[in-house]
Amino acid sequence: MNKVKGLKSKDLLGLKDISVDEINLILETARAMKEIIARPVPKVPTLLGKHIITLFYEPSTRTRTSFNMAAKVLSANITNVALNTSSVIKGETLIDTVKNLDVMGCDCIVVRHNMGGAPHLIAKNTHNSVINAGDGFNEHPTQGLLDIFTMIEKKKSVKGKKVLIVGDIAHSRVARSNIWGLNKLGAEVVVVGPPTLIPKGVEEMGVRVSYNLDAEIKDADIINMLRIQRERMDKGFFPSLEEYAEFFGLNGERMKKARRDVIVMHPGPINRGIELTSEVADGPYNVILDQVTNGVAVRTALLFLLLGGKNGN
Ligand code: NCD
Repeated sequence: MNKVKGLKSKDLLGLKDISVDEINLILETARAMKEIIARPVPKVPTLLGKHIITLFYEPSTRTRTSFNMAAKVLSANITNVALNTSSVIKGETLIDTVKNLDVMGCDCIVVRHNMGGAPHLIAKNTHNSVINAGDGFNEHPTQGLLDIFTMIEKKKSVKGKKVLIVGDIAHSRVARSNIWGLNKLGAEVVVVGPPTLIPKGVEEMGVRVSYNLDAEIKDADIINMLRIQRERMDKGFFPSLEEYAEFFGLNGERMKKARRDVIVMHPGPINRGIELTSEVADGPYNVILDQVTNGVAVRTALLFLLLGGKNGN
């Protein structure tokens, strides 16, 4: 069915750089992995003897935990290195850290970094596979893939579907990975937010810009809400959080304008009362915990595709 038998690169650095066939291969593999994960004993020996290292320079709950679970499903070993316990705080460079991890015999480095491009730099300096688990504002490809996986699971396809990506587009790597992936699969993507949080030239990525959530919500099939990235803002991008929530948050009242079959997504962590009221976050349209479940399947698929074929396995 797919023209590609495997992924072309040893790394997954972004959805900007991979083909539609590769995206479909990952999604198809993730569907198979989801079935394995649902078994009473969710474990296969495929990556026995492989070693994965997660190298996270920013906080994470879902992403790191799901990579750990994915590794265990495939019987790989996994070691977690975090900024506050690594020699980076003693001044070691990123490349030196990676060279040291390499000679310990790891096969894959999963990296999250506050600098856009850090995973690309690592990938150039190692023969091992590198997976970008979020780099600055740039990309978060596994989040984009699990979002698209969930959209297809709920809506059959994303082709021709109207997808709103709402909020802090400027500082969101989740938005960028969603945009690259969804455009490749033929969705109609609209980014919605206050002008200060919409980056200049975003239309060149193939999206429409809107500042009016109430106008866009009426015929949306999918609404992907983004977290306000307060840690990435050095000045006030909007007058107050209350005002932001009033215009760009989802609450019960605003949801009455939406289609009855709309789905509401959020990558987490949610700022309850800002992006979503609890009524919406826990309400009938939300698929937020499905996204988290699917994150394990998508990451299992990626580890399988990137590492499964190595050493003639
Ligand atoms: C996202 C991230 O870290 O980019 N979180 C995640 O991986 N689930 C989104 C966010 O922090 O807003």
